[in-house]
Amino acid sequence: MAIERTLALIKPDAYPQHKDAVLARIREAGFTVVQEKEVHLTREVTERFYEEHRGRSFYEDLTVWISSKPIYALVLEKEDAVKEWRNLLGPTNSEKARAEAPETIRALFGTDGSKNAGHGSDSVASAEREILIIFG
Ligand code: TYD
Ligand code: MG
Repeated sequence: MAIERTLALIKPDAYPQHKDAVLARIREAGFTVVQEKEVHLTREVTERFYEEHRGRSFYEDLTVWISSKPIYALVLEKEDAVKEWRNLLGPTNSEKARAEAPETIRALFGTDGSKNAGHGSDSVASAEREILIIFG
């Protein structure tokens, strides 16, 4: 399995109050934190970040919400990091996560089907694109 990098975001419903708990899980799972910072994304950057979802019913609320407050961004490195971080996050919908994967970050700290505590890149190519947007 290859060493990969992925982008993690701690979203406004979990940051800053659950930052330490999320970081503890990241370290327990054996990720190396390559870069990390608090960032307050503009609406414009948030729309670029989520451009694959442009036109979908949740796009407006999502981009307004993510750009409404500071969030916490991390570049994580590990063998199979993209999949491993998404496994640790759990299902996209936090209610589903609580029903099906109660130990995951979204189950523990997420709000609902839209506000779900964290982001994880869905492929190595997405990770490269997203890391460039957030960290330059
Ligand atoms: P998506 O990329 O499908 O999920 P993931 O974050 O697990 O890769 O969607 C991006 C975000 O959009 C998701 O984290 C929460 C929000 N979202 C909604 O609000 N409603 C929805 O029906 C979906 C699919 C996503
Ligand atoms: Mg996604």
